[in-house]
Amino acid sequence: MPDVVIRKMAERDLMEIVALEKEIFADPWSYEAFRTDIQNPMAFPLAAVIGESIAGYSCLYIVAGEMQIGNFAVAPDHRGRGIAKLLMNRILEIAKERECDLIFLEVRESNQPARSLYESYEFKVVGRRVGYYRNPYENAILMTREL
Ligand SMILES: CC(C)(COP(=O)(O)OP(=O)(O)OC[C@H]1O[C@@H](n2cnc3c(N)ncnc32)[C@H](O)[C@@H]1OP(=O)(O)O)[C@@H](O)C(=O)NCCC(=O)NCCS
Repeated sequence: MPDVVIRKMAERDLMEIVALEKEIFADPWSYEAFRTDIQNPMAFPLAAVIGESIAGYSCLYIVAGEMQIGNFAVAPDHRGRGIAKLLMNRILEIAKERECDLIFLEVRESNQPARSLYESYEFKVVGRRVGYYRNPYENAILMTREL
């Protein structure tokens, strides 16, 4: 695999990230949403970068010792090469550095690749939010990982 660097998301990344976000998700986050995260001291937006190009990204929030993974994606052209694992390893490091005792996230019930990824990192299903997603309408599965 070419060298992948995981670093803080920067404003110069956003055109590429927003284009990927629109390609990947039916209910994409806006440019403004990512930009707000870059400026929010409680947010930890990450980019996975190969050379000058964005291979993946994730947006995290830490409140009262709990980390939320609010967004997580790998560019379609770069999937299946361990980039999600690199992002997840960095997420766990940040959670430990910041002394979080829990990480939580929501995922579409039918999203088997993402659910398998999270299960491989010992996230457990702890709940279901009925009709949480639109486009298409779907339940969310709530998963947590204790630290
Ligand atoms: C889910 C996603 C992030 C995985 O990224 P990736 O870089 O391809 O994943 P990796 O190559 O690092 O694989 C890590 C693990 O994820 C799981 N996984 C990845 N792709 C999978 C697939 N197509 N089917 C089943 N499991 C899969 C496996 O557990 C894999 O571990 P393994 O290779 O040891 O079996 C990527 O498919 C993606 O961006 N999907 C669209 C956006 C999305 O669904 N985000 C999550 C929203 S909650």
